[in-house]
Order: sequence, then C-alpha cells, then structure tokens
Amino acid sequence: MGLEAPCCFKLDHINIFKMDNFIFKADSLYCEDVNIRDIAEKYGTPAYIYSKKTLEENINRYKNAFSKKDNLICFSVKSLSNLSILELLHRNGFGFDIVSGGELERVVSAGGDPKKTIFTGIAKSEEEILNGIKKNILSFNIESESEMYRIESIASKENKTVDVAIRFNPEVDSGGHEYIKTGRKKDKFGIFLDQIIRFVEHISTSKHLNLIGLSCHIGSQIVDLNDYKITAKYIKRLAEEIDKFGIKLEFLDLGGGLGISYSNLDTPTPKELADIIEQELEDRAEKIILEPGRSISGNAGILITKVEYIKDKYLIVDSGMNDLLRPALYQAKHDICNIEKNTAESSEWNIVGPICESSDVLAKDFKMSAKEGDILAIKTAGAYGHVMSSNYNTRRRPPEILVDKDQYKIIRKRESYDDLFKNEMEIED
Ligand code: LLP
Repeated sequence: MGLEAPCCFKLDHINIFKMDNFIFKADSLYCEDVNIRDIAEKYGTPAYIYSKKTLEENINRYKNAFSKKDNLICFSVKSLSNLSILELLHRNGFGFDIVSGGELERVVSAGGDPKKTIFTGIAKSEEEILNGIKKNILSFNIESESEMYRIESIASKENKTVDVAIRFNPEVDSGGHEYIKTGRKKDKFGIFLDQIIRFVEHISTSKHLNLIGLSCHIGSQIVDLNDYKITAKYIKRLAEEIDKFGIKLEFLDLGGGLGISYSNLDTPTPKELADIIEQELEDRAEKIILEPGRSISGNAGILITKVEYIKDKYLIVDSGMNDLLRPALYQAKHDICNIEKNTAESSEWNIVGPICESSDVLAKDFKMSAKEGDILAIKTAGAYGHVMSSNYNTRRRPPEILVDKDQYKIIRKRESYDDLFKNEMEIED
C-alpha cells in the first residue's frame, strides 16, 4: 500500500472517497458540524470517530451503482463491525458478508437479515455451519472439498437442503499489499478452476446441497478495474459451464475489494465497477452480489490521539498499533493532521505509539506542526481500524463515536480494566 507522500486535506483532486465530511472550519477540524475537540474533551483519546453522512454517501453510491441488473450489496462486516453501523446498513437494505459465527451473531443482533447474509471463509467450524443452517442464511460460499462434505453431512443430520455457492479462485494478482491479495493460485482462498466441475457434479446429485451461486473475492484495495473485468469474464465462463448441468444459479458474487484513497490516489467509483460488470455479464440473468467493506467504511472514520511527549524526532502519542494495526502490519500510510491549525513551524516527525515494539510507528518522516498535548487525527481509519485493535500491553480498546450533523453519540464505550480481566481466573489451590 505504498501511496504518495502524506498530505492532509488537499482537495486538489476530485475524488469521491476524499470527500469525507472531516473538514476544517476556521482553524479546527470538524466532523460534519461537530468540533472534534468537543468529542476529545468528552470521551478522551484515543477514540474512533465516524461520520454518518459519509457512510450514507458511500451507501448511496452502491445503491445507485447498477442501472440494469438486479443486485444485492453485502457489506463486509469484517471491515467495521459495530452494531450501530450494521444496523444503519440493514436499514438501507444491505445484506452482509460474514466470515465467522461471531459475525453472524453481530448481524442478527443488529437486526440484519440472515436471508441476505453470505458466509465466506476457509475454516468454517461445525458449530458455525450448524448455526448458519439454523438461521437460514442466504448461502455458504464453499472454499474446499472437505468443507463441501462437512456442510452436506450437517445438512443431512438436520434433514435440510442447504443453499451453497462455490468460491472460485480466478488466479488474478490483485490488491494493494502482499498480505491482502487473495485471488492467486498460491493463495489459500477459493477453489481452482480445474476442480470446480467436480464440485458441481457432486452438488448436482446431492440431496442436501443446492448450488445457487458462484462467488469470488480477488483482493483488497484494488484500483485497477481491469482486474474486475478479467474476473467477470471468468465468472461468465464458469456460469456457462454450469448451465450445461441444467442448474439455474441465482447469483454471481464478485466480492469486495474496491480501493480507496488514503492520500491523493484517484480510485474508481462503485458506479464504474458496476458498469463493467453490467457490460461483461449483460447476457446473464443472475443477480449480482458485491461484498464491499473499505469503500463504505474507510473514509467514514478517523482515530484521534494525543501527543503525550516529544523526544528528538519522535512525536509519542497515546495510540499505536494496538488501536490501528495497518501501518505496522502493511506499512500503510494514513494522512494525519493536527486537529487545530497552528502557525508553529512544521518539522518532520516519526509518529510513534506507546507499545513496546519498534514496529509501533504510525507514520515516518511526517511533516506537521505539533506540540505536547495536541490532538492528532489519523484519517481514513474507518475500515480495518477498530476491528483489528487488540489489548496488547494491557491497553483498553478505544471508544467509537458516531457523528450525525451537529450531534454525536457513543456507539461503543472505552473498555474498562474490569472488561479486560473479567474472563481470567485465579489458580485453584
Ligand atoms: N469479501 C471477502 C471474502 C473478503 O475477504 C474481504 C476482505 C471483503 C469481501 C472486503 O474487502 P474490501 O472491500 O474491504 O476490500 N486488513 C486489511 C484488509 C483485509 C481484507 C480482508 N478481506 C487492510 O487493513 O487493508
């Protein structure tokens, strides 16, 4: 995810994912009509802050993306899984892409519709499959032969016929960083093209499995739409092969992965993606499913953090890889700015967190002006931010706050120390 040099709030490129409702009014950073400082004073730092308006704008871009094809947009729960956010997506008619039993519980708790929920993931346990069957989810996206037999056997014990899709691996090398590529032959996801027909043959004779779709997900932070074009061509070819079995598929699922701008990158829109899909799959009758995560949640969130100390070139802040893992794990670059503009001369800083790891660096050689006590905003932190946080070094996960115009509401409290210790037990004598 090597992007350009960080720069805060440059709006010289017109890019939809840069228009995120975190803007300066006079000298202070606002989220919609709320001064970020007010939130920091009320709830402390570090804290995640989301803009409802930005989420809704991104939601509407997907709602309006397709002009011809019937479609279902399944929000990828793993990117931002707070119940209030999932509820907002459900109210907008979205389905969900889940990868664990826990995510299914989240969808249900948020009022989401299991019938609009697809279950992907390579390691579905017996318990997770049984729960998915009982909740009557839309489809299990099968990722291996063993999983196919496991689902069949559980369905048989339950005396049910279960709807499934095959997640194929289109052998496309796509995605922003080695760790988030998923569609190549060497990747652990999906089923290779040469094996699929065997799966179809088995499912077509099974009393307990019903093939209703084809699915894939080629990677994340994809900015070249040609990768989707290739994938659409593959899915079409496969669907034509499946036609020969007399099977009528209900959906073709092209996964998530649409990239966003972390600084000044021009990225494709959901509409441009949908146009390509509609063009390539024009003569297919199936409903189209997409599984976007980052392109809905990414630019809707920031993480605020306080400068505790300044030491040499280091700005030492109260948040680090425990709250936002992306810079340490993928060398991801996020724009960062001081929430109050000041006239002090800027210098180049290494912005580092409190964790006892040398990789706990939020940004390197980052030019900004800041002094001890200032609050910084790390931008585009809505996706894979809070969800990837941990308690490493026994730090409490930060709160999440949702801004709606001039109002804000806490949608997840900061953890207490009791929360951290509650599952631990004394050694018995
Ligand atoms: N569908 C499946 C099957 C996925 O595995 C993923 C993401 C998505 C949809 C959503 O992809 P999106 O639209 O958000 O790109 N932690 C990494 C990203 C890992 C993505 C994992 N799979 C990051 O922070 O960049």
